[in-house]
Amino acid sequence: MDDFTAVILAAGEGKRMKSDTPKVMHKICGIPMLGHVIRAAKGAGASRIVIVIGKHCDVVVDAFKDDKDVTFVLQEQQKGTGHALMQAKEVIKENTLITVLYGDMPMITSESISEMVDFHKEKKADATVMTAEVEDPTGYGRIIGDGEKVFLIREEKDASEEEKAIKEINSGFYCFESSVAFDALEKIDNDNKQAEYYLTDIVEVLNKENKDVLAFRLENPEELNGVNDRCQLAHVQKLLQKKIISKHMQEGVTFLNPDTNLVDIDVEIGRDTVIYPGVILEGKTKIGQGCSIVGASRIIESDIGNNVQIVSSQIQYSSISDNVKIGPFANLRPDCEISSGVKIGDFVELKNTKVGKGTKIPHLSYLGDATLGENINIGAGVIIVNYDGYKKHPTIIKDNAFIGCNSNLVAPVCIEEGSFVAAGSTITKNVPKDSLAIARDRQVNKIDWVKKRRQKIERGNSSSEK
Ligand code: UD1
Ligand code: CA
Repeated sequence: MDDFTAVILAAGEGKRMKSDTPKVMHKICGIPMLGHVIRAAKGAGASRIVIVIGKHCDVVVDAFKDDKDVTFVLQEQQKGTGHALMQAKEVIKENTLITVLYGDMPMITSESISEMVDFHKEKKADATVMTAEVEDPTGYGRIIGDGEKVFLIREEKDASEEEKAIKEINSGFYCFESSVAFDALEKIDNDNKQAEYYLTDIVEVLNKENKDVLAFRLENPEELNGVNDRCQLAHVQKLLQKKIISKHMQEGVTFLNPDTNLVDIDVEIGRDTVIYPGVILEGKTKIGQGCSIVGASRIIESDIGNNVQIVSSQIQYSSISDNVKIGPFANLRPDCEISSGVKIGDFVELKNTKVGKGTKIPHLSYLGDATLGENINIGAGVIIVNYDGYKKHPTIIKDNAFIGCNSNLVAPVCIEEGSFVAAGSTITKNVPKDSLAIARDRQVNKIDWVKKRRQKIERGNSSSEK
């Protein structure tokens, strides 16, 4: 692989996004679009990434500051792409090979960057421009050259009608030695329609010095889709999403209607898992083999084992072992750990709760801050009362316990192994091992009470009719 420095231009304001978030921080398939460009550069062998950012870009720095390969430079005023690259000079002191990329073109792949660098080296070019032939070149700079040679790049705003008809466009991605670029940048001016220092103008400068500027033509112009507004954001999201899902399908995952799914870039899915329409998989979610995930389920940053069935449920920041059944309509909030063979049924909400092997929570329960052992049965309507208005308290339920329907367990409380809580109890004290706890009023049956009342009412009616 090639070792080079990638300079990513990302100081543009992104006005057309109409957003309080810098454009390059808008997410595509789960990560900021700038993240896609950084990954592509690294995948191609960039050992160092220099990102040119504008003012008010603290969120960009915050998002990538832990990456030791990344350096930021500030371009105080957006005076054009040439001026932007010039800002990188202060951190690229020694001559090195650089590629220039844009932070708002997240579809570029490692392969294409790598091929451009290889092309540049093989041809011993002084500068290489990544170009593409497109049906509609509107908005792009046009390549004026001969064969592989590039003589100059004309921005659309400065182009004649004849030049506008050219279909070979400038991607905006380049490869050159830093000294070649920085020397040429000293010689450009801003004498153009936008009064900007155009990076593209170095092509003419280099040609005047008899240097070789070559075009590396990209086969797949789809990679040059950029994001300037929310419509393009949606378009690029759709294209990248399709690529991500296709990759999973090639690895043996079934998607019944892939156009309806959202699957973030870092999601992992095992073979023979079936993803039904509408499923959303976010963050670094990992799903095992042979699972089925049905209808409007949303899984965020969670680890799911093998042969798990999930129906119309939400799972966040939790881990689920093998052979678990969840849903329909379960809500697993953060920090749940579910062991194998567990059933979590309809309208069950869990939060910060560990559930041991084979335990069943089939319907209508809330369990929070609880630790459940193995083979426990939780009846319908069981509620753990974990919050007293100030603090959250823990509950422990040990192996083989049986919690009857509609019981409240008032935390902190411990239900020992093998014990039985009678339905409808409100448990406020620990229940000893193998014991029965009943915490409700005794039932009183008033024999014939209804019959007597009926007779009394009927007697009253007949006397009033007389
Ligand atoms: C640029 C090219 C054009 C090419 C097109 C491809 C120039 C003069 N033109 O035009 O030939 O076809 O890209 O998309 O280079 N930026 C800064 N600081 C600035 C200006 C821009 O960092 O002062 C960054 C932007 O954030 C963006 C990138 O550079 O990531 C491109 O800038 P933009 O203004 O969008 O360039 P285009 O006009 O599209
Ligand atoms: Ca521009």
